[in-house]
Amino acid sequence: MSVQIAPSILSADFAELGRAVHAVEQGGADAIHVDVMDGHFVPNLSIGPPVISSIKRTARVPLDVHLMIEDPYRHLEAFAKAGANTLSIHVEAQPNLSQALTSIKKLGLLAGAALNPSTPVTALETVASEVDVVLVMSVNPGFGGQRFIPSSIEKVRAMRVLLESVGNPAPISVDGGVDLSNAGELVAAGANILVAGSAIFGQDDPTKATRALRAATNVRAIREPK
Ligand code: DX5
Ligand code: ZN
Repeated sequence: MSVQIAPSILSADFAELGRAVHAVEQGGADAIHVDVMDGHFVPNLSIGPPVISSIKRTARVPLDVHLMIEDPYRHLEAFAKAGANTLSIHVEAQPNLSQALTSIKKLGLLAGAALNPSTPVTALETVASEVDVVLVMSVNPGFGGQRFIPSSIEKVRAMRVLLESVGNPAPISVDGGVDLSNAGELVAAGANILVAGSAIFGQDDPTKATRALRAATNVRAIREPK
């Protein structure tokens, strides 16, 4: 599976969202990662379906929507209508995960399960065969520009083992503090989708930064797995 780059528009200039999307598409972005925050599940507030509809009208690549909200089940349809292609919900926010994942698939979308850094891989055991994508948070969700938590690399490796144990080849996405310094190691550990906000939109040239991040995924891991 080739590695996908999903720039997170949370770090873009919200007054220039269309331009931001086109810049990373030109750099070869595979998807646009959209962070939805409700001020409850995470302390921050961001955007909702109306902004996603606008992005959808201008984006050529799929929209990877990351719901950092309480009771995501109530809002799945609204995000599907707005144009999400993948909907990821947090295992910490959704008691009946299996039911929610099924509903996302019934809406015709890819169903993702996201885990906070403190949530163990085992939290996904019961739905490991049902997920279309797993989103491993490598910072505590809520804000862009935080430092990558190094133990996330080991978590990606363990998540790949769990998915393989149930015969599910679902991609693993890593989100938070991803940059040129850890991209190669993450991919070597089993990551397939790299989400990056500040490493792309925090740079002078997001087009070049997208290409640079992809190039960094080809760099062999410096440390070998223990
Ligand atoms: C954090 C969000 C991330 C964030 C990543 O809660 O889920 O998608 O935008 O931003 P960086 O890459 O700057 O950590
Ligand atoms: Zn995110």
